[in-house]
Amino acid sequence: MLHLKLPTDPRWVGIAEMQIEDVLTDHAYCEQKAASSCISLIVRFNDLDELVDTLTPIVAEEWGHFERVMDQIRKRGLKFGMARKDEYVTKLNGFVKKGGSRMQQLTEHLLLNALIEARSCERFKLLSTHIQDDELKKFYYELMISEAGHYVTFIEMARKYQDPDKVNKRWQEWLDFEASILKEMEIRGDRMH
Ligand SMILES: [Fe+2]
Ligand SMILES: [Fe+2]
Repeated sequence: MLHLKLPTDPRWVGIAEMQIEDVLTDHAYCEQKAASSCISLIVRFNDLDELVDTLTPIVAEEWGHFERVMDQIRKRGLKFGMARKDEYVTKLNGFVKKGGSRMQQLTEHLLLNALIEARSCERFKLLSTHIQDDELKKFYYELMISEAGHYVTFIEMARKYQDPDKVNKRWQEWLDFEASILKEMEIRGDRMH
């Protein structure tokens, strides 16, 4: 359903479990970024009523996810560490086409968000199926469902504001690009992506 072109290396989940403090910290920042990227879209495309009304509750949901990750960190007595450089998102940002119409810009950002949701969803699924901690298993299962919903929403919004055929074509390019960067990135257990 997610259409990702390269599955996560199966070794990732094992090493991530051993570095759960770092993974949870990184995850917390991912949720913050998800909320803030929706806020940016609301500010930039304030005139698109349906977009604004669709993204507004997602901001609250993402912030709710941040609170829930923090709760997992605190109750385990783990440290909420510093934000790290987000190599994955930086590389994806480099693929955003500059210029074009305002709606093309919107499409780019919606597809970028959809892709991050899809990959996060895939990783949450791996965590929910493979890690030992029962509470985290359940936690990641619930978040996986929520991010899958966001993924669908971003794609639907893109198809609403631009020719769906163009969106589908560009989506394939995004998927190919994401697979190509993931292939080259080192597998690290201390981060979500
Ligand atoms: Fe989230
Ligand atoms: Fe999300």
